[in-house]
Amino acid sequence: MNLVVAGSGIAGLTAALHAQQSGHSVTLVTKDALGGGCTPLAQGGVAGIYGPGDSPRQHAADTLDAGAGLSDAMAVDVLVGEGSARIAELIARGVAFDRDVNGTLLLGREAAHSHARIVHAGGDATGAEISRALIAQVHDRGIDIVEHAFLLDLLIEHGAVRGVRMLHHGVTLDITADAVILATGGGGQLYQHTTNPLGATGDGIAAAIRAGAAVADLEFVQFHPTVLAAGGSFLISEAVRGEGATLIDDRGRRFVFDSHPDGEMAPRDVVAGAIARQAGLQRSPVRLDATMIGAARLTQRFPTIDRSTRERGFDWAREPIPVTPAAHYLMGGIRTDLDGRTSIPGLFAVGETACTRVHGANRLASNSLLEAAVFAARAAAAAAVPAHSIPLRSQFTSLKPANSDTNCDRSGGFAHSRGLLQELMWDRVGLVRTPDGLAEALTSIRSWAAAAPAPASVADYETANLLTVAEAAASAALARTESVGAHQLSREPALIGA
Ligand code: SIN
Repeated sequence: MNLVVAGSGIAGLTAALHAQQSGHSVTLVTKDALGGGCTPLAQGGVAGIYGPGDSPRQHAADTLDAGAGLSDAMAVDVLVGEGSARIAELIARGVAFDRDVNGTLLLGREAAHSHARIVHAGGDATGAEISRALIAQVHDRGIDIVEHAFLLDLLIEHGAVRGVRMLHHGVTLDITADAVILATGGGGQLYQHTTNPLGATGDGIAAAIRAGAAVADLEFVQFHPTVLAAGGSFLISEAVRGEGATLIDDRGRRFVFDSHPDGEMAPRDVVAGAIARQAGLQRSPVRLDATMIGAARLTQRFPTIDRSTRERGFDWAREPIPVTPAAHYLMGGIRTDLDGRTSIPGLFAVGETACTRVHGANRLASNSLLEAAVFAARAAAAAAVPAHSIPLRSQFTSLKPANSDTNCDRSGGFAHSRGLLQELMWDRVGLVRTPDGLAEALTSIRSWAAAAPAPASVADYETANLLTVAEAAASAALARTESVGAHQLSREPALIGA
């Protein structure tokens, strides 16, 4: 069979390698050069190696707790049941996870994990190491790679996906395939402040929405609690708190305990909310105090963060550093079953592009690389089954394409730019939301989408994709009338500290 895999993070690379090793002909298309995207930026690690007293069952319980009751228990079972094998596979593919002098894997701990079970590489450079090793494998195995290829749309024939339409160096390129696996990442660029790179514009999710695929849980956007509040949104890994760093207010008080008995090790949504509230109250960023970890350990365990904070003028070994939340991860995406199948025959989705419902309303730290590896391998196996033999699952419901009722009306709308959309999403569809704010946001997004001129460049297509995903996210947020996980509703105007 011919398979197209779109995206070259851990999910896309894993899917491509598995499909090719099963004897299929694989074309890997990627928007940037190989090595771009979110995976190489991942700091924390991959959860799923169990020491004494720990088990897959404990990992599942932590994942379900963090997900605030909205995770799919079967998907979580698959995650923890197959996770260790996928980590072993990464090692076999050449990923050099950190080990002690005896060669035993070093395990880190992050918030809301009951045990240290996170493997990491290069201290805080896990994603870069995974990316390096998997890209080397993809080259070694001679997989066809098309770089700098932007996903314009899915090719649909008789209701099934038959390939992809790409924009490649200014030329439209159709690649036909028996199945397409979308691994194009999330949509961090929906927001003014994000840990995601510029290319995270929801391209695969938007293409799937245009094709009529079911999407789910797009209201659940994870805001990472701690990015440096100066010099760009540089991520300060949760693993730093796992090593003992504390969050303090302007009087030096550990304020997160006011919100949760686990303090800094509470789930991400709780910590991010507490930081935003405190920063709003004190009208200045809160601080992360890592001084007790000591200069030597900070440099050895977190070399990337150590270097990057110093480049930005901070000495975190000597003084607490200012931190603030930023958009980090989309729990929702294209709805899939346990094998990555979407509601459209022949279309699969994996990684942040997909919604397996593993993460529910809030993702547990270091479960994303794991989810990507586990479900990409499964999707590659399932994609080898001809599309016409796959029954559609009844839980899938299809979302109307965002612009379907407004395409004809291109007059009288409001001018928009990506920056205005990002500001609007941050203010109105951010950490703390109000029903009125969400309704206003939806109205603006729809007006901007209706008034948008036909895209003339990759940047225009990306902005159009962001508008499509923003509309779906704001609609989903408006429809969810209770606070849960990362979707926090307030009757008060939002207090955002960034
Ligand atoms: C971090 O290192 O804090 C990020 C890890 C993750 O998002 O899972």
